[in-house]
Amino acid sequence: MGRPVTAPRVPEQELSRALGPEARLRLVAEEVERCQRCPLHLTRTRAVPGFGPATARLMAVGEAPGEREDREGRPFVGAAGQLLTRLLEGIGLSRQDIFITNVLKSRPPGNRDPLPEEVAACAPFLDAQVEIIRPQAILLLGRHALQRLIPGAPGISRCHGQVLRVGERSYFPCYHPAAALYNSQLLEVLERDFQALRRHLDRLAAPPAAPPAAAPEQLGLF
Ligand code: URA
Repeated sequence: MGRPVTAPRVPEQELSRALGPEARLRLVAEEVERCQRCPLHLTRTRAVPGFGPATARLMAVGEAPGEREDREGRPFVGAAGQLLTRLLEGIGLSRQDIFITNVLKSRPPGNRDPLPEEVAACAPFLDAQVEIIRPQAILLLGRHALQRLIPGAPGISRCHGQVLRVGERSYFPCYHPAAALYNSQLLEVLERDFQALRRHLDRLAAPPAAPPAAAPEQLGLF
């Protein structure tokens, strides 16, 4: 009699690493949809994991879903999202090429600011998305995304429109599009910052002969 056949035990993390990035992102999204790590699951209509290709070179991170995002389960589909689409298209980018997500994956009631414990509860999801996609650059939309991904960075009013480098990855903070919806001065700032983002992306795409570290607007942080 042979030895009993048992299925090989593969640790869950290893199993998920054996999958491709699309499948791994889908697993994260399914976990977000089931998530009850904080009380926001009690008030949300739908969780909003994020949307876009796993091959995206640029990732955009906002604050949290608003009313329309909560209804549709997709990020940045309301008024701020329409402005984001316009800003991206203004520099020759299509939403289809970008992975868009938020610090929080569930809507805070009344669109209030995220609480620190909610940000902490959601952190593993955003971290996993960044780790799976490994984008060249991350567009940080507003102060909550900036604080979450670069703790200790200068405030958004000081570092918007500049490239921040942490290790191999570059971050590009800018004001949140929602703040510019009814503020034409801020809208102009945002449009200028998106032009700077375009230049940064062009430098990233250029051959190594043009070293990105030499660019004057870059800020090495850590
Ligand atoms: N504001 C955000 O920060 N995220 C969204 O998805 C929509 C509005």
